[in-house]
This record gives sequence, structure tokens and C-alpha cells, in this order.
Amino acid sequence: MAKKKIFSGIQATGNLHLGNYLGAIRNWVKLQADYDNYFCVVDLHTITVPQDPEVLRANIREVAGLLFASGLDADNSVVFVQSHVRAHSELAWILNCITPMGWLHRMTQFKEKSEKQKDEVSIGLFDYPVLQAADILLYDADLVPVGEDQKQHIELCRDIAQRFNYRYGDLFVLPDAYIAEVGGRVMGLSNPEKKMSKSEEKKDDAIFLLDSPDQIRAKVKRATTDSMREICFDDNRPGINNLLTIYQLLTEKSKAAIVEYFSTKSYKDLKEELAEVIAESLRPLQERYRELTGEKGYLDQKLDEGARLADEAAERKLKAVQDKIGLR
Ligand code: TYM
Repeated sequence: MAKKKIFSGIQATGNLHLGNYLGAIRNWVKLQADYDNYFCVVDLHTITVPQDPEVLRANIREVAGLLFASGLDADNSVVFVQSHVRAHSELAWILNCITPMGWLHRMTQFKEKSEKQKDEVSIGLFDYPVLQAADILLYDADLVPVGEDQKQHIELCRDIAQRFNYRYGDLFVLPDAYIAEVGGRVMGLSNPEKKMSKSEEKKDDAIFLLDSPDQIRAKVKRATTDSMREICFDDNRPGINNLLTIYQLLTEKSKAAIVEYFSTKSYKDLKEELAEVIAESLRPLQERYRELTGEKGYLDQKLDEGARLADEAAERKLKAVQDKIGLR
């Protein structure tokens, strides 16, 4: 029986963090053997906000390198860069022509991002979720493993697919979001009321995947907690809850075992132990990253091969779309 398909993407902004890893990348690695997978560095999404060309070029490579270093492997997964496969832009245009603007006005991420940008907001930023729908629909993805913040975009993708299928006849698979129960929303260290993000202003809020053990220790030490003493999972105490959740995700111990273990310990102990767990968990990934980026030509060869395979699948689907709507 043919395997079900997975598609997911990640932007080419630098500084991938623990939220990206625990909410998305780690799940991709865990799921990859049971599915046919496409994982994409979505550089065309990245340019919906201004980017310095040199920095963007470097970030695309850094993110791709980190995906391989995390354990995505070419036997199971096609890993590629979005702009290397032209069908993404072309299908996005076609989907633009059937997507009502009102649907995009409802997107909460657009509202948040456009508030920060004010007059500079591009049409690309507004249209971002349609390009995301094109990414997913090109590969007939059944499942889209993402963090919670992407849920609305996947729902929109289903709506667009349904509208197309209704107008032109069944062609697109309706994808489901896969959001881990724990880890779907890793919170910031300095502001645990908000999700951990790549924000430039608050560098202490996120643990970056390439942070050194000392940087990790310093950030965890400064993490916001509260004035209570008891160490327990409690949604009303977002700081401690987040630290314990990260600990749980990385050690894969049960909540009960964790609470029992820390019952006689202090916040300081928790922070020290958590910092070591994070540093140890990231160590193999960082070593592998250094190895593969040190090997000349390795990344280019992998990404060329990924683009070739993705392009084959995407072109096939794009042609089927063109047939349906009368362009061919
Ligand atoms: P991006 O690049 O912002 O994030 C990549 C993945 O990381 C997840 N994530 C988190 N998960 C848990 N806690 C957090 N604090 C956290 N921060 C980020 C995101 O949910 C995401 O899964 N629009 C997408 C990229 C995209 C895409 C796609 C995803 C483009 N096309 C098609 C899926 C399918 C984005 O900006 O992800």
C-alpha cells in the first residue's frame, strides 16, 4: 500500500529555535519513516518581509543544514528550497484567482505581522497563506506537521482545496494539520505568555539551535518564573509550566515522574538541570551541523537532488491543475 504523504515548511530566517525544533522539526524526523515526505525551506515566504540578500542566502543554507543535522534523511524525505521549484509560485497564482480576499483578512498571523510593519505591508505578506496552500496541495499531502500557530493556515488550505474541487472536480487532497499535544506551542523564556519566536529584539526569549552551552545556561537562568516555590505543571503559572514542558519534551519522562523528581528541589535546581538537558540534547545536532557544513559541496548536492525530486512531483500536479481549469 502506498504511504501517506507529509508536507511541511520552515522559513529561511536565521536563528531557528527550540520552538521550531520541538513544535515541528523533531516531529518531522520522528514521522518520516512512516510517510512519503516533502520538507521545504520556504524562502519565497521569507521575502514577504524585507530581507538583506546576503543574509537571506546564508540563512537558506543554515536552515537546510539544520534540517539535515536534525536527522531528516534523503532515504525517507525530500528536502528542498521552495524557490528551486517554480510550480509553487505558479500554483499560488492560480489559487489566488479562486480565493476570496475576505478569507485572508481573517488570518491572525497577517494581522499581527502587518501591525508591526504598518505602511510597509506587502501584497506578498497578505497573500502568504495562499502560497502556503500551494506548497501543501502540490504534493497531495495528507498530513502537515506544524506548531499550533499554523493551524489557521492549514484550515484555509483545506477551504481553498475544497473550493477548487467543487468548481473544477476533485483534484486536491484535503490535508490535516498534525499538532503535537505537548510542544505545539513552546513559550518564550523571558515572556512565557507568548510563544517562543525568532524576534530580534528579545534574544533572551528563545534558545537557538546553535547556542553554546554557556549561552543556554545564561538564558535559562534568566527565564521568567514566579514567586511561588512548588514545582508543578500549572497553566496558571506560565513560566514554570513552560520550563517543565521543555524538560518533559526533551527527557520524554512522564509529568508525574518529573513532579516527583523536583518535589524537593528549588527553581534554581530546575533551571540548572534544564539547561544541561537542553545543551546535551542539542549537542549531537550541533556536531552534525558542523560536520556537514564543513564538507564541501554536501549541502548543494543534497538540495539539488531534493529540488529535482520535488520538481517532478510538483510539475505533474501543476499540469493536472492546468488541465482542469482550461489552461491546457
Ligand atoms: P515558521 O518558519 O514560522 O516555523 C516553522 C515551524 O515551527 C513551528 N513553531 C513553533 N512550534 C511550537 N512552538 C513555537 N514557539 C513555535 N514557533 C514556530 C511553526 O508552527 C512551524 O511549524 N508558514 C510557516 C511555513 C510554511 C509551511 C508551509 C508550513 C510555509 N509553507 C506549508 C507547513 C506547510 C511558517 O512560517 O513557519
